[in-house]
Amino acid sequence: MYELTGVTRRYTRGKGVVDALAGVDLTIADGDRLVIQGPTGGGKSTLLQMLGGLDRPTSGSVLLDGVDLAQLSEARLTKVRSEKIGFVFQSFNLIPTLTAQENVETALVPLGVKPRERRERAAEALASVGLGERRGHVPGELSGGQQQRVAIARALVKEPKVLLADEPTGNLDESTRDEIMDVLETRCKEHGLTFVMVTHDSHLARQAPRLVTLRKGALVPS
Ligand SMILES: Nc1ncnc2c1ncn2[C@@H]1O[C@H](COP(=O)(O)OP(=O)(O)O)[C@@H](O)[C@H]1O
Ligand SMILES: [Mg+2]
Repeated sequence: MYELTGVTRRYTRGKGVVDALAGVDLTIADGDRLVIQGPTGGGKSTLLQMLGGLDRPTSGSVLLDGVDLAQLSEARLTKVRSEKIGFVFQSFNLIPTLTAQENVETALVPLGVKPRERRERAAEALASVGLGERRGHVPGELSGGQQQRVAIARALVKEPKVLLADEPTGNLDESTRDEIMDVLETRCKEHGLTFVMVTHDSHLARQAPRLVTLRKGALVPS
């Protein structure tokens, strides 16, 4: 579970100061499905980066299962990220020169999984998102929805505890959006994952089991 207390993130650029997060308190239980909505610039991506240990707060604590991500060394943080946390981004972030299969396998390399097991687990993960037949294609040969499925398989193949998604359907048309949400929700339920998604899509926000709104770096009533 996550326990965030007094989380701030201040960006300074020259004399300019931006408080992207201005004191966020938030608890997320294991298996929760949480949607973070709010206007552009409200701090949503910054908050997701805190949850994922991709960035550190200026002040405050970000406890994941009792361990403060803000205080971990870079090496320990990298380990937590590679073992426990899956990420899915709006822009898919696949490696263009690698096949779908190879893209998914990359998530298992830092975990020391042997090549043969990597191949098997990646193939299973791709099959579980409906892409078993497309394993040998590079991202440029896949549609946006298919690329996002590869990214979801890559996030899930390591069997994380937490899945974080930043506008995962932001680049997709409505019917593809609904397919991808279906894949995400089915996978998360099946594996009992904690799922945190950022969106400014009010249709998706309305469907959220738990919704918080971030405005000017602060949580406000939804
Ligand atoms: N690396 C950065 N350097 C400076 N300012 C940043 C940086 N990242 C985000 N910001 C600022 O922090 C605020 C929150 O940004 P962000 O978390 O990306 O919002 P959202 O995802 O809700 O659109 C914005 O004002 C943005 O310009
Ligand atoms: Mg954002």
